Amino acid sequence: MKSVRAITCTAITGAALTSTPTFSAGNSGHDAKALSDDVVRARANELIARMTPEEKAGQITQYFDFLNEPEEAKRVESEMAAARAGSLLFVHDAKELRRLQQIAVETTRLKIPLLFGYDVIHGLRTIMPVPIAMAASWDPKVAEQGQAVAAREARAVGIHWTFAPNVDIARDPRWGRMIEGAGEDPYLGSVMAAAQVRGFQGAGIGTPGTVVAGPKHFAGYGASIGGRDYDEVNLSDSELWNVYLPPFKAAVEAGAGNIMSAYMGLNGVPATGNRWLLTNVLRETWGFKGFIVTDAGSAHDLKTHEFAASLEDAAVRALGAGVDMEMAPPFGVSAFKTLPQSMAEGRVSVEAVDNAVRRVLEVKIRMGLFEQPYVDLEEAQRVLNDPGHRVVARVAAERAAVLLSNEGSALPLDAKMLKSIAVIGPLADSARDTVGPWVFDQDDSETVTVLSGIKAKVGSGVRVDYSPGVTMPARLHKSIFDSSPHKEIPRVQVDDDAEIRRSVEIARAADVAVVVVGESQLMIGEQASRSSLDLPGRQQELLDAVIATGKPVVVLLMSARPLDLKGSKPAALMNIWYPGTQGGAAVANLLFGEVSPGGKLPFTWPRNIGQIPMPYAHLKTHQPKTAGERYWNEPSTPLYSFGHGLSYSTFSFSNLKIDQVRVIVGEPISVSVDVSNTGSRQADEVAQLYIHQRHGTAARPVRELKGFERVTLAPGQTRTVHFKLTAQDLSYWAASTRSFVQDATVFDVYVGGSSTASLAGNFEVTAQR
Ligand code: BGC
Repeated sequence: MKSVRAITCTAITGAALTSTPTFSAGNSGHDAKALSDDVVRARANELIARMTPEEKAGQITQYFDFLNEPEEAKRVESEMAAARAGSLLFVHDAKELRRLQQIAVETTRLKIPLLFGYDVIHGLRTIMPVPIAMAASWDPKVAEQGQAVAAREARAVGIHWTFAPNVDIARDPRWGRMIEGAGEDPYLGSVMAAAQVRGFQGAGIGTPGTVVAGPKHFAGYGASIGGRDYDEVNLSDSELWNVYLPPFKAAVEAGAGNIMSAYMGLNGVPATGNRWLLTNVLRETWGFKGFIVTDAGSAHDLKTHEFAASLEDAAVRALGAGVDMEMAPPFGVSAFKTLPQSMAEGRVSVEAVDNAVRRVLEVKIRMGLFEQPYVDLEEAQRVLNDPGHRVVARVAAERAAVLLSNEGSALPLDAKMLKSIAVIGPLADSARDTVGPWVFDQDDSETVTVLSGIKAKVGSGVRVDYSPGVTMPARLHKSIFDSSPHKEIPRVQVDDDAEIRRSVEIARAADVAVVVVGESQLMIGEQASRSSLDLPGRQQELLDAVIATGKPVVVLLMSARPLDLKGSKPAALMNIWYPGTQGGAAVANLLFGEVSPGGKLPFTWPRNIGQIPMPYAHLKTHQPKTAGERYWNEPSTPLYSFGHGLSYSTFSFSNLKIDQVRVIVGEPISVSVDVSNTGSRQADEVAQLYIHQRHGTAARPVRELKGFERVTLAPGQTRTVHFKLTAQDLSYWAASTRSFVQDATVFDVYVGGSSTASLAGNFEVTAQR
């Protein structure tokens, strides 16, 4: 039964990774010969011909299975045993997955295996940095390899499908789920979406050691009004086509096998009942061939949204819009349970139901579940403990960190010159926070916190004093992840006044203070929107008190949205995100200069919350010269621009070459630039290319990212980076024609290390030669 095919993870070029881990696929998946579409369809049709209406409705229903909720687990199991469930989610224990699969395969009438789904968002056992951090690496290989490891671990325990990547564009940092995506930009978002799909699915559905990817949430979810999670979204077609849809299209083009519909209403029509989105755009315009699942209970919620009249109507409308599988509401009634009756009464056609069932069966066939439904438990343990996975996690965290400021080159620290370090802050030694949200069963004991990473790095020669500083405050109300059916998360509490005094004392007695502050992992993510960007609780007071000692202070921010530090001026400020299982080890390597930070911001960092949203890719107004003066009380420029990120070295850009002065519409154009390391240590820079269209069918943004490459350069080394701008890069959706257009016009090109790059050139696009 064992597959011997090997998966070679794409190499990461990080300075710290000396060899590329090669992972054997183990037995976690069958070695699917590429089955032809006809064969797969015929096998699915044979089964469909033998299914009852109840079995069909069940096959396209997915249930939550929470093992710590015995009553609910019993209900779900009885549905499953009666062949009225096609898929389960949330079970992730290998033994339990095997037991449940045995029931489906050995006791149900047609022996159809279950498809197990789970939110493997940034790792299963080995936790990678959160997705926005992987995007901040500006290195698609980091995202691809990170998700390949996640997929391998998931598949090893018996999970077949992940509800990831989240490819929602997020331009409002109040929205907590920006942590799951790639930030504000459609181009960066598209590159990261495709990379993650490749990571999860490998060479395609059925590749051993991989899972089906389910990009979500289709579509527009990141634009909820007020940044309030779940609230309605109102987007113009131009914003949809040019900003919010491109990452989904890229994910579909990369072969994603599944798409999840969003919860909220898009321009008044709930996404799960939105035929224009699910059928006209996704299937008919983009040719998506996989299956569409609803978000949790969102078919049922078409009624809650006051869109559908009844549960029956909700199911008919969801299916009619293009949904194939309902993720049933946890503890609630599945809307799809009403389908057999609706079929009998002619409200929905048998053909429509069969089409959905076929898409679900096809994925099970392609995944090889009929041939190999079970996983080998010992092999699962071996895969979960693979040390190569930890290396991938560490390198990803190193590459994700963004150095925001470094006054007087405070970083890197020189371990040889230091006698003592004060490590301060409520996030400095919190394993739970270090891995971030969407992690349910990580092994805290194997998570390297910042404190433990620093201690391990400096050894016994340097004294390390630690104080948590202050208590992380409680949320106003609990999150879904901090209450049943999830485990309650314990909170560390200290006497804030006494602990701030102690922090000041240990900072005074140390050569340098490393302060780790930010938001706890429950303060970001789903149901974790926030109407403030301040440091929660008394962290700002703590930070000010430590800075007031006059000692050099390095601030490490654990956050996934821009935070407002109220003008504090630490010697250095680095965003380390929620860096994952190996976070502390990566941070120590960064602090002591073993690797140089090279990550860049995937979003604009405002000065304060009053400025949001402020995407860098905005349109020019009639008064462009005063663009930075829109507010009379402060500059209307951001604190840090999109694409910003410093390094321990310095770089210069020169010799910008555009291969032609003029091209005709439809032709590509090549751009190259020399990037030089002008400093004294090896480091990375991200060459970023932005375009600006001077006039056309519609006005276009002042700058738009259209290419980037992260390069590692030795001191003094110069590398030429090549970009190609295709006709697609120069096209956009115009509201005036309600179509994609490419204009004959003039383009400015800017290349450099951030969105404020100054090296510029231009070229012309003409209608004909
Ligand atoms: C989230 C989805 C997630 C699902 C299952 C929903 O609340 O919006 O992103 O995949 O739950 O956990």
